[in-house]
Amino acid sequence: MLNIINSILAQTNEMDLINLKPKITALVSNSQGLDATLQSVCELLKASVPYYDWVGFYFRNGEKKELKLGPYAGTATDHISIPFGKGICGQVAVNNKNFVVPDVSAQDNYIACSIHVKSEIVIPLFVNNKNIGQIDIDSNTSNPFTQADERFLEFVCQSVATLM
Ligand code: SME
Repeated sequence: MLNIINSILAQTNEMDLINLKPKITALVSNSQGLDATLQSVCELLKASVPYYDWVGFYFRNGEKKELKLGPYAGTATDHISIPFGKGICGQVAVNNKNFVVPDVSAQDNYIACSIHVKSEIVIPLFVNNKNIGQIDIDSNTSNPFTQADERFLEFVCQSVATLM
């Protein structure tokens, strides 16, 4: 019974994410500038997905091996710059791969932004096959992210990459 309920919930969640895609496309097509569009994307995602509690972009800081915070929605963070290799974000900057963390307390190489955060997902953003940044989402829910989130956030990154 629980399996059936979980499967129905997962399908509902997947449909909600799929339904957000045209809104992302509309924001990108009607872009009034990169930062404004990234800001709107963050706000849309945070407002639309109940378990997306902090949504932000980090970008490589020029040729330095560090990430710089871009537009975000959610509480202010002290982590304006993150060295490559440090935390979940810094690892994605080096490994070029999606990183889904169901339980942040189980990670050694993790930078805490808020005591409320239980899980995190980071998806790299490629322009001309180069990893130039990422979208980072913190959740106050344990283990909420599925492959549907990965596919959806890859779509978000690919869409905004067309503006760069
Ligand atoms: N938790 C991230 C740091 C960025 S904040 O989540 C906004 C990390 O471990 O890289």
